[in-house]
Amino acid sequence: MSGTIIWNGKSIPFESGETVAQALMRVGVLRFGATGSGQQLGLFCGIGQCQSCLVEIIGGSPREACLTPCRDGLALRPIGGVCDV
Ligand code: FES
Repeated sequence: MSGTIIWNGKSIPFESGETVAQALMRVGVLRFGATGSGQQLGLFCGIGQCQSCLVEIIGGSPREACLTPCRDGLALRPIGGVCDV
């Protein structure tokens, strides 16, 4: 299944089987947010161990973008409000 996720208010297309991290990176989003101390969040381990890719699912809780499968209409935003898009 393909479709679009909503990242920080913008539509991002995804392909079947992609995670949120894959869809974001394919369109050039490398910074997924920032911690309270300013450390940038983004893909690091890619296997759900480091928490470096946390994103906020609107209406839900923070999730690892590297483990979260895309689904049509999934709305997300960066933690800390800092990102590439
Ligand atoms: S990149 Fe490490 S948990 Fe996602």
